[in-house]
Amino acid sequence: MTMKTWQKLVAAVSGVIILTVVFSMTVFAGGPPLKEKPCGFCHKDYKVIMPKTHPDVGAAAANSCLSCHAPDPARAEASKFSTAIHKAHKEGGKTTLECAACHAL
Ligand code: HEC
Ligand code: HEC
Ligand code: HEC
Repeated sequence: MTMKTWQKLVAAVSGVIILTVVFSMTVFAGGPPLKEKPCGFCHKDYKVIMPKTHPDVGAAAANSCLSCHAPDPARAEASKFSTAIHKAHKEGGKTTLECAACHAL
């Protein structure tokens, strides 16, 4: 193979990669979709993980976080909720989880 062919091949492969990334960014604008009941698998008692600074919601504090903080795939920016959840579960937080622990990837 000549050098030219190689360069064409590299350009074509890069093009495909870029298109794939752009496509997945468009599809997952609001982040990759969440799994079904992503929190209950690990958290049984929601009152225990309720942030201390959380607005008082009374007895509803026993309900799942997502019952009030409903996922919205159309939302492009991080919310206070998603930011807090990511912070708690990534390196340097309370524990380190793979993205796929919560997101359907
Ligand atoms: C694979 C297991 C797992 C999944 C799934 C998971 N968590 Fe966690 N989470 C943990 C562990 C372990 C900790 C650290 C120990 C603790 O605080 O319970 C934690 C900590 C937290 C904290 C911090 C609690 C504190 O003490 O400050 C919050 C809030 C939280 N999780 C919410 C959620 C929410 C909401 C979801 C679903 C979107 C979720 N978690 C999904 C395992 C998980
Ligand atoms: C009964 C409804 C309800 C439940 C259940 C609930 N929240 Fe909230 N949460 C709210 C409301 C209302 C606010 C204030 C408005 C807003 O920021 O969305 C809030 C705000 C927040 C905020 C932003 C706080 C700030 O700094 O302004 C975080 C973080 C949060 N909730 C985390 C959680 C977590 C984690 C759980 C589950 C353990 C949870 N919430 C369960 C209703 C709820
Ligand atoms: C503990 C559960 C959990 C883990 C682990 C997690 N996420 Fe999320 N993520 C969420 C929740 C909850 C939302 C908010 C979903 C909504 O409101 O539609 C979210 C939203 C997002 C969004 C949309 C923008 C935003 O911040 O709200 C992106 C992008 C994202 N996650 C990427 C990731 C990546 C990449 C990883 C791995 C490095 C990851 N997430 C790990 C729970 C998690």
